Amino acid sequence: MLEHSQLAAWIDEKKTLCQPDKVVICDGSTDEYNQMWDLLLTAGVAIKLNEEKRPNSYLIRSDPADVARVESRTFICTETQEQAGPTNNWIHPDEMRETLNGLFQGCMRGRTMYVIPFSMGPVGSPIAHIGIEITDSPYVVTSMHIMTRVGQAVLDELGTDGEFVPCIHSVGVPLANGASDVPWPCNPENLYIAHFPTSREIWSFGSGYGGNALLGKKCFALRIASAMARDEGWLAEHMLILKLTNPEGVSHYVAGAFPSACGKTNLAMLIPTIPGWKVETVGDDICWMKFGDDGRLYAINPEAGFFGVAPGTGIHSNPNAMLSLKENCIFTNVAETDDGDVWWEGMTEEPPSHLIDWKGNDWTPDSSEPAAHPNARFTVSAAQCPVIADEWEDLKGVPISAILFGGRRATVVPLVNEASSWVQGTFFGSIVSSEKTAAAAGTIGELRRDPMAMLPFCGYNMADYWSHWLNIGKRQGVKLPRIYYVNWFRKNAAGEFLWPGFGENSRVLRWIFERCEGRGDAIETPIGNLPTREALDFEGLGLSDETIAELLRVEVDGWLAEIPLIEEYYDKFGDRLPVELSQELANLKSNLENAT
Ligand code: OXD
Ligand code: MN
Repeated sequence: MLEHSQLAAWIDEKKTLCQPDKVVICDGSTDEYNQMWDLLLTAGVAIKLNEEKRPNSYLIRSDPADVARVESRTFICTETQEQAGPTNNWIHPDEMRETLNGLFQGCMRGRTMYVIPFSMGPVGSPIAHIGIEITDSPYVVTSMHIMTRVGQAVLDELGTDGEFVPCIHSVGVPLANGASDVPWPCNPENLYIAHFPTSREIWSFGSGYGGNALLGKKCFALRIASAMARDEGWLAEHMLILKLTNPEGVSHYVAGAFPSACGKTNLAMLIPTIPGWKVETVGDDICWMKFGDDGRLYAINPEAGFFGVAPGTGIHSNPNAMLSLKENCIFTNVAETDDGDVWWEGMTEEPPSHLIDWKGNDWTPDSSEPAAHPNARFTVSAAQCPVIADEWEDLKGVPISAILFGGRRATVVPLVNEASSWVQGTFFGSIVSSEKTAAAAGTIGELRRDPMAMLPFCGYNMADYWSHWLNIGKRQGVKLPRIYYVNWFRKNAAGEFLWPGFGENSRVLRWIFERCEGRGDAIETPIGNLPTREALDFEGLGLSDETIAELLRVEVDGWLAEIPLIEEYYDKFGDRLPVELSQELANLKSNLENAT
């Protein structure tokens, strides 16, 4: 019996629309989790992994047409197109509602409608928010159990009139008149992942996979939450959160935004190479920050689990991720070994001699296709991470001392530079970019701008989002984090990486830590404050003086060449571009010109 009348009415309305055979209110229990797996095993989409090798873990193979987030079918439905901005797909809310009401009409016939009450963030935290996801996918139920906090405690927290974000999801394949099901139902021809930031609603139709279907993650925690944060004066960001502790036992918390394929999960779980230093994980993907009474920004990880890309994760690249995956996991679209375990490219140096690939076919190292899909995923509770910080579920969050922005840049951007102000930091965030590699379509070296790593995740006009960042900086009586732009991916003329990366990134974190403590030498330059040669610990790395100089160089010509590209990018936003950012760009240009 639901005590929240608005919630009860919404469920009734959606039941009438979707016409499921039955409705189940999820309680988040282990029994419920196991029941979902019984259904998925019977449907032939799940395989229980070898209990000795990978206890209580499952392998799922999705339909090959439903393997990733689909940005081209992701919509921000604001009253005007301008409100969604040039980086989002837009459809008017009335038109989208009409389309969705048509598609959802009867879409759950022959299926069960699950109602998942979930909290993004520890239940009861003043930084957390609640959502209710309606879905017809048992796979979504199991994944939400791991990725969010589900169940009665959430309904209790909601009480009779608490606020929730309504999220409705269907795989979009009704089973009319007892028609038989397929292992992974989906409807890619009619795919919609629609967000209504004004009414704070999410509707997703046609996909059962990842960020399209687990609506707490990208849809709520980033797209809808970014609009909530704008309205309420906080920040919802695509950032990891880590705790950095020095040999004396002093800690600082650092948040970091990086576009995909820049090693965010690896950084969140990094094992420092510098003696006595420790990194612990608070979150690997999303960070919500609100101001505390002391004027500092306090962050929570709104998620309860990791939904990480498996390929490339191995005992050398990320031992802590591998140790997290010992048991109680869901693996999606990875390969299966002959002894009932999992494998993916990069897990071990030598591939096994035989596998069943992600499509269910025999695979050997001679096969021309990868054994695991490149976007194959693991889903695991964050509590299983061996370096999860004790305070990762603290209701008040953790105070953030520094924010990192980073992209993959072979040239121009130095190893690390510190913004000399919040405005310059916002500017750095707005120009984050990664170079396309030979593997991607387009000109090699061509830049893809991914401001604050939020390009596919900002729920409103990106220029207004930058204004919001600038407004945060204008608040009185606050003590804002310092902002850094880092680049682990700088290369020499021969195309070799200049910086070893991985655990060695702790050396850069150490300088940032020292700057937060008011120590750590820096030189003022047109692109912010750069560490002096002595301030960064290069001991034992075997880097030549030239390499070190190159890592810390202000590449004046390269930056000057980039100014017109930034201008061109900014032009897209017309007069919504905050004047502070065009001013910052103009200052950079004149400071660089004066430096020549
Ligand atoms: C993710 C992403 O899945 O950024 O985390 O796409
Ligand atoms: Mn992400």
